Amino acid sequence: MTAPSAARATIGAVPRWDERPLVGRAGELATLLAAVDRAAAGRGSAVLVAGDAGVGKSRLLDELAARAAGRGLRVLAGHCVDLGEVGLPYLPFVDLLRPVAAELGDGAAGLFAARSAAAREPDAADLGGPVRALRPPVDDGRLQLFEAVAAALAELAAAAPLLVVLEDLHWADRSSRDLLRYLLARLTDEPVAVVASYRSDDLHRRHPLRPLLAELVRLPGVERLDLGPLPDAQVEQLVRGLAAQVAGGAAAGVPDRTVDDVVARAEGNAFYAEELLAAGLAGETLPLGLTDVLLARVEQLTPSAQQVLRVAAVAGRRVRHELVAAVVRPPADGDLDTALAEAVHSHLLVVDPDGAYRFRHALVREAVLADLLPGERVRLHAALAAHLAAEPAAGTAAERAHHLRESHDLAGALAASLEAADAARQVGAPAEQLQHLETVLALWPAVPGAADVAGRGRAELLLEAAAAARSGGQLPRAVALLRAVQEVVGDDGDPVIRARAHYTLAQALARIEDQTSALRESTAAMALVPAQPPSPARTWAAATHARVCYDLDRRAEGDAAAEEALAAADALGLDSAWADVAVTLARSQEAGGGDPAETWARLEEALARARRSGDPDVEMRVLFNLATVSWEGGDPREALRWSDTGLGRAQALGVEWSFYAAELRHLGVVSRYVLGDWDGSLGLADRLARVPEMGAHVRAAGLLVLVGRGDPGTAERITWARGLVDRLDAHVLLLLATAGAEIDRASWAGDAGTAVDRARAASSTLARLWGANRLAVVRLAAMALSPVADAAATARLTGDVAGEAEWTAAGESMVTLGRDAVADHARVVGAHGAEAAAWVARLDAEAARLDGRADPALWTAAVDAFGYGHVYEQARSRWRLAEALVATGDRDAALEPLAAAAGTARELGAAPLLGVVAALARRARLELPGAGRVVETAAVFTPRETEVLALLARGRTNRQIGSELYISEKTASVHVSNILAKLGAGSRTEAVALAASRGLLPTA
Ligand SMILES: Nc1ncnc2c1ncn2[C@@H]1O[C@H](COP(=O)(O)OP(=O)(O)O)[C@@H](O)[C@H]1O
Ligand SMILES: [Mg+2]
Repeated sequence: MTAPSAARATIGAVPRWDERPLVGRAGELATLLAAVDRAAAGRGSAVLVAGDAGVGKSRLLDELAARAAGRGLRVLAGHCVDLGEVGLPYLPFVDLLRPVAAELGDGAAGLFAARSAAAREPDAADLGGPVRALRPPVDDGRLQLFEAVAAALAELAAAAPLLVVLEDLHWADRSSRDLLRYLLARLTDEPVAVVASYRSDDLHRRHPLRPLLAELVRLPGVERLDLGPLPDAQVEQLVRGLAAQVAGGAAAGVPDRTVDDVVARAEGNAFYAEELLAAGLAGETLPLGLTDVLLARVEQLTPSAQQVLRVAAVAGRRVRHELVAAVVRPPADGDLDTALAEAVHSHLLVVDPDGAYRFRHALVREAVLADLLPGERVRLHAALAAHLAAEPAAGTAAERAHHLRESHDLAGALAASLEAADAARQVGAPAEQLQHLETVLALWPAVPGAADVAGRGRAELLLEAAAAARSGGQLPRAVALLRAVQEVVGDDGDPVIRARAHYTLAQALARIEDQTSALRESTAAMALVPAQPPSPARTWAAATHARVCYDLDRRAEGDAAAEEALAAADALGLDSAWADVAVTLARSQEAGGGDPAETWARLEEALARARRSGDPDVEMRVLFNLATVSWEGGDPREALRWSDTGLGRAQALGVEWSFYAAELRHLGVVSRYVLGDWDGSLGLADRLARVPEMGAHVRAAGLLVLVGRGDPGTAERITWARGLVDRLDAHVLLLLATAGAEIDRASWAGDAGTAVDRARAASSTLARLWGANRLAVVRLAAMALSPVADAAATARLTGDVAGEAEWTAAGESMVTLGRDAVADHARVVGAHGAEAAAWVARLDAEAARLDGRADPALWTAAVDAFGYGHVYEQARSRWRLAEALVATGDRDAALEPLAAAAGTARELGAAPLLGVVAALARRARLELPGAGRVVETAAVFTPRETEVLALLARGRTNRQIGSELYISEKTASVHVSNILAKLGAGSRTEAVALAASRGLLPTA
C-alpha cells in the first residue's frame, strides 16, 4: 500500500477551478458582509443561504470567509455530509471545532479529551469526540452539551469576532439541527456571525429542515438569502475565464459557438457551466442533461480511475487513501495512485489539505452513484463493511451498519446498529441512539435468531428506544414505542415486562399532561405484578401509581400505593424508589394539611437515601422539594438555603442542566428578589445568559428586579420572554414571570389597560393548564388592580363619570379573578401559605382603593402579611399605607411607614418606588430623612408641564390633555415635547418612566 503522502506527490499541483476570481454576486456578498459587520460590532447575526445545487453557494461562502478573515474575524467552518441513513451526531460541529480544540478553556477542553488537534479523518473513528468525555445524560442532557458548545464559541469570540460557516444544512443530522437552533437563540449578544447554506432544490415537502428554517427566520437577527441563477453575461465571463485557464492562457482555443452553447444551456448554474465546458472541450458535441454531462466526463477516464470514483461514491463524500486502496481491486491498467491522480486532474475529485479525497461537488457523487449497477453497488458496500470490520479505527459502527445493510447482511447490520446506538448514547445524542434502535427494530423480523444476536428481546429494545425518545424530548414517540411493547408482548407475555411498559407509559403520559390515560396505565401495571413478594417492577409501578393518583386527587388510592411502595422499597433496599415515593407522599400530605414535622422528617430521610442510591435525578427531585416546601411554608430564607445547597450538588453531579436544577435556580432567583438581594437575584438569573427553552423562566425571573428598578433593559427582555411564551405554550413558570413583569411595568407607567389584559390572558391560560391549581393568579390580579384603582381615582377626581364606571368595572373583574382563584384552590387543593395570604391581603386593600376608600387598616394588614420576608412588597404596601393615612388626615402617622418605604427603596435601587414615595412626601409636606437627593418637581418643570406630565402618566393623548386642561391640542403637544426634552426621553412612555424613577412624577 502506498502512503498517502506519496500519493499526493504523484498528483502534484492541480489548478483548482474554485480558486478563480468570483464572478458577480456583489449584492449577495454585501448582504453577507453586513451581517458579519453587525456581528463584529457585538450583535450576533445569522444568514441562511438558499440555492440550487451548483448555483454557487460554497463559492460565495468561501469568498465571504476570505473577506471576513481579512477584517480580523476568525472563521470556523463545518460541513454536513450526505450520509443517507447513517446517523453520525454533531458531525458539522465536530468538524468546525476541531481546529480550535486545543485553545478551548477548561470547561470545553474536557470535551476534546485526549485528542490532538492534528488533522485526522473527520468522518471516521473520532466522530463525536468532542462530547465523549461527558457523563451519560440525565434528563435532557443535551442541554449541557449545547451550552458547552455555545460557551466555547462565546469564549473564542471574546478574543476575536467569529464567523461560523455551516455548509449543506439539508444534510444535517437531527442533533446538529437542534444544536444550531440552540446556538442561534443563545448567541444573539455575542460577536458571532453564523452563515449556513442549504440546497433549496432538495427540500421536499416533508424534509426535516423545513420546520426548523421556518422557526429560525423568526428569531431576531436571522435572515434568509436566496441565491438565484447567475445572469448569462456572468456565466459567459466565468466560462471564458475557465477556458483561458484550461487552454493555458489563450481563450482563443475555445470557439465562441461552444461558449454560447454552454451559456445557453447552463441556465445560470455555475457548476453546470463548468462541467458542460469540460465535456465540450473533450468531446465533439455536448451531451444532454447534467447527469449525462457528468457521466460523459467520467467515461472519459481509464477503467481504474472510474473504479476509484465508484468506491469513493459508495464510501461517502470524503475518503481516505487507505480505504480506496483496501477496496479497489488491483487495477489492471496501472497503479492506484495513477488512477487517483487522473480523477483529481480531471477535476472530479479534489485533495483536501489533510490528504483525504472528496468529490469536487456532491452532484458528481450523486451521478456516479446513480449509474452504479445494483450488483456492483452491493459488492462495494460489502467490501467497505469488511474493511471497516477489519479496521475499526477507519470508521464508526454507524457507517458499518449502513454498509452491512446496503450489502444485505442484515444480521451484521443489526449487531452494528446496536453498537452505534450505544455509541450515540455515550456521546449524549439520544436522537441518533433512537434512530439506530429503530433500525434494529426494523431489521428484527428479517433476522433469524435476532434475539440471540441482540442479546435481548424485542420488547426490551422497545423499552430502550422509548427511554432514548424520552431523553431526547420526543415524548409522543416514546408513548408510541411503549404502546408497541404491549403489542409485541401480547396479553400472555412476561408480566414483568408488560408492567414496566405500562408504568413507563404512565410516567410519559403524565409528563404530557394526559393524567387520565396515565391512570389507566399505572392501574394496568399494578394489576400485572403482585404486591407479594416485593419486586422492583411492582415497587416502581406503585410509586408511579401513587403520583398519578395524587395528581387526579384520588388521595386514598394514592396513599395506599405510596405506603406499599415505601414498604417494598425498604424491603428490597431500593433507595431511589424509596426516596421518590417519599417525596410524592410528603408533598401530598403537606397539601392535605398533614403534620409539617413528619413531612420534613420524610424529606430529610429521602435525601439521605437518594444520595446513597447514586441516582442524581431522584436526589435533585428531593432537594427541589425541600426548597419548595420551605418556600410554601413561608420561609424564603430556608428556601434559598436549599436552593443553594441543591445547585451546589447539581454542579458536583454534573447535572446542572437537568429539569430540577433549573427549578432550583428559578427558586434561587425569586427568593433572592423577595429577600431583597436584588443584585444576587439578577446575577443568578443572568448566569444562564440566554439559554432558551428549559432555562427561559430562570432568566425571565430576572425581570422582577429589572422592573422593580425601572431598568432601561426591561423592554428588551420582556420582548424576548414574550417571544418564548408564544412558542413554549405550556411553560407555566415562564408565563408567570413574563406576565407578572408586564403587569408591574404597565402599573408603573400608569397603563391600566395593558395590566388588565395581561392578567386576564395569563389567568385563562393557567385555568386551561392547571385548572383549580392557579393560586398564582391572585398575585397578578392584585398587581393589575393597582393602576386600575389609580385610573378610577383620576376619573373620579376629574368628574369623568364614564371613565370611573369603566375602570371600576375592570377593577372588579380583577378582584373576582383573584378571589375565584383563591376559592378554587381552597376547595380542590387545600389551604394556602404565607405568600398567597400576603397577596390576598393586598388584593383586599387595593379593592378598597378601587372603591375610593382610604383604609389604613387594610394596608396595615398587607404590610404585616408581607412581613414573612418579602422586603419590596412590604415597602410598597407601606407607601400605600402612608397614602391612606394622609388621605384620612393622619399625616403624622404616615411619616414612619413612608420613611421605611423610602429606606428600602433606596437600598434596593427601586427607583420607581422611591419616586412615588418622594412624590407623596412632597405632596403631604412630610420631611423624609435622607431624601435630600430627590429633585423637586418645581425645579424642573413649570406648573403647566407638571399638569401635562401627570396626564401623560395616565396615558392620555395630546388631544385628551388639551381638553382636560382647556388648552389646544397643539399647545399640549408643545408641552409634551418640552417635557421629553428636559428628561432626555425618546418617547412618552419613556418620559413617564424616567420621571417616575427620578421622583418627578406628580401623584394625583
Ligand atoms: N460566482 C462565481 N464565480 C466563479 N465561480 C463560481 C461562482 N459560483 C460558482 N462558481 C463555481 O461553480 C462551481 C459550483 O459552485 P458551488 O459553490 O460549489 O455550488 P453550490 O455550493 O451552490 O452547490 C464551483 O466550481 C465554483 O467555483
Ligand atoms: Mg456547496
